[in-house]
Amino acid sequence: SLPHTFSKPVHLAVIGGTGLYELPNLKPVARLTVSTPWGFPSAPITIAETQSGEAVAFLARHGPHHDLLPTDVPLRANIAALKKVGVKAIIAFSAVGSLQQEIRPRDFVVPTQIIDRTKGIRPSTFFEKGFVAHAMFGEPFDLKLNKIIADSIPTKGFLEAHDTDVEPILHTKQHTSNGEDLTVICMEGPQFSTRAESKMYRSWGGSVINMSVLPEAKLAREAEIAYQMICMSTDYDSWNESEEPVTVETVVGNLKANSSNALKVASKLIEVVSEDLRTGKLGLGSDLEGSMKYSVST
Ligand code: ADE
Repeated sequence: SLPHTFSKPVHLAVIGGTGLYELPNLKPVARLTVSTPWGFPSAPITIAETQSGEAVAFLARHGPHHDLLPTDVPLRANIAALKKVGVKAIIAFSAVGSLQQEIRPRDFVVPTQIIDRTKGIRPSTFFEKGFVAHAMFGEPFDLKLNKIIADSIPTKGFLEAHDTDVEPILHTKQHTSNGEDLTVICMEGPQFSTRAESKMYRSWGGSVINMSVLPEAKLAREAEIAYQMICMSTDYDSWNESEEPVTVETVVGNLKANSSNALKVASKLIEVVSEDLRTGKLGLGSDLEGSMKYSVST
């Protein structure tokens, strides 16, 4: 069993979604049970060390045995626990349905925008009862983190093709032909969307759809942690009349088939982002520091 304490600073966290429950290529060095004013996180936080000795925190969003529905994830505890550990940047993985033909199942997408279809359902702020706070959210993801990701993972040739022989692509805003935003729609679930809803999301400009980016991204912003999600496309949702509407089997099947690519992406990002956090090269998270100070009035 691993130590329950860790004394070095941990600047980077990976939140694993469906299909990414651990980082098997890194050496675990501690397992922390972190208590917060919002309760305990989804799972103990695993601290692992990279080959160059950088510490990385890992948290399984749906719990170690995947028994939490998106609606039931203790999101405030998750983000508060990572903040308590000292995290300055979060890379969050999530399975998504694709709303666009060119985003094929098993492709990866680095979104830049979000549309909220969970509003009012999930607790989405740390500021309650007597506090009024307005966090900037026009850019819901961290642009520096987004750029590091786009610069360090080639859009083609990095991911391995398997089963289907189709080589997956990494979609980023920088690589779209007209620099368009990539938008993730966050819906409540647990049921998938109807065909009419799916078509509506396409008409809104949605690129992909999931149940997990919110309020995670909002809470990270309030906690002044740089946050970027990496989406793993698993299905064409239900807009595409030439395909069967999405099922859990399709989602899980594509995730499993693509898990080595997810790990490849995670490992590469851990390497470059922790290097950046150590040297302070890009000042990740530094522009967020103190940002909430100007948005709170009591
Ligand atoms: N996660 C994976 N596929 C999804 C879909 N089609 N809709 C919502 N969440 C998803």
